[in-house]
Amino acid sequence: MNDTAIAPLAIHTPRLLDRIDALARIGSIPGTAGCSRLALTDDDKAGRDLVVSWMRDLGLDVTIDAVGNVTATMKDPAGPPVMTGSHIDTVATGGRYDGNLGVLAGLEVIETVLTSGIALRRPLAVSFFTDEEGSRFPPDMLGSLVYVGGLSLEEALEIEGIDGATVGEELERIGYRGPGSCPAAEPYAFVELHIEQGPVLETEQRQIGAVTSVQGISWTEVHIVGQSNHAGTTPMTLRKDPAVVAGSIAVFVHELAHRMGHPQVGTVGKVNLHPDLVNVVPGSATVTVDLRNTDEARLQEAESALAAHLDQLRSDHDVEITSRSLARFEPVEFDPRIVELVSATARDQGIEPLPMPSGAGHDAQMLARVCPSGMIFIPSVDGISHNPAEHTDPADLEAGANVLLHTMVSLAGEGL
Ligand code: GLV
Ligand code: MN
Ligand code: MN
Repeated sequence: MNDTAIAPLAIHTPRLLDRIDALARIGSIPGTAGCSRLALTDDDKAGRDLVVSWMRDLGLDVTIDAVGNVTATMKDPAGPPVMTGSHIDTVATGGRYDGNLGVLAGLEVIETVLTSGIALRRPLAVSFFTDEEGSRFPPDMLGSLVYVGGLSLEEALEIEGIDGATVGEELERIGYRGPGSCPAAEPYAFVELHIEQGPVLETEQRQIGAVTSVQGISWTEVHIVGQSNHAGTTPMTLRKDPAVVAGSIAVFVHELAHRMGHPQVGTVGKVNLHPDLVNVVPGSATVTVDLRNTDEARLQEAESALAAHLDQLRSDHDVEITSRSLARFEPVEFDPRIVELVSATARDQGIEPLPMPSGAGHDAQMLARVCPSGMIFIPSVDGISHNPAEHTDPADLEAGANVLLHTMVSLAGEGL
């Protein structure tokens, strides 16, 4: 090789890993590599402040919108950006890569391009969107939903979290209710890098997934009111027991998903009993149900089956049952041009990509409403996520970030 040879454009992996590590130290869960930064908590604020400081260090234009989404854009050239991004909030028992990777890889892509001196026709931008997880404030993907105009700002600010605080109050409290408008200006295109959070890439021994779609999501909160009474004296025939109803819902959802078969999934992730004491028949229970399917008609079948089961329980157990929707998003297909570009870019890097749907919800599914969008997946060890044990090998992080880099550079240079 002679000394005029130009090194191929590539991200700086140690810098990416250092940033992932530094962000994961905020809200870290002792004894694990994971972290807990529920949306708009003090730890989320600390994480935001750190990422914003990195954005400013790169000399990017940083805007914060009225629902707390943060976007950092190259100062030039002008025009709608080629955008990437994800989220930095986590579930309470989260890993260090879910969402955080997409944001920090985006920052790394921009730093790589800025230091390389290459000229682009469109600017690059990286965003982190508020409350992607939806664990504290349902629905999930809240910030990106508001960003694209799918939910009004006013409605979003009034959403009450699991601890009674509202989105608006918490944004004010942590200083992230910004001046930027919602909905925001449409990007030229959006591409998100994310860990798969499931076992498919690992099982198929592939390093890159070219994500074709995101399955539909239906979240329901079910509230059951029975009769609280003494556990020792109340004959079994006279009980109106919300705990039994809650248990039946969990078993029903599990069996329903098995009966319907792949790709239907169903989860009861949250059960609260009141008063939650060993010797008291509970007076009320609250249960959440998460149903997902890549096929909208099948998802509706699952929802109808759940509703019929609740009717049955109401009469069998003589309890009151009410339910409300916490989130409902139809399946989303990504732009075939972006899916093809991701695939071609991976092949250019010597990696044969796997076309695949996403089981998890992502901000890219909201951006897909306003601009050509797509996603890049990399493997999750043992398919574990939403768990502090979540892990992805550094070589896979590097490969994913380089596919993101070259996909964004293509979009910002040649376009679609
Ligand atoms: C969001 O992460 C979801 O898929 O639940
Ligand atoms: Mn995520
Ligand atoms: Mn998540």
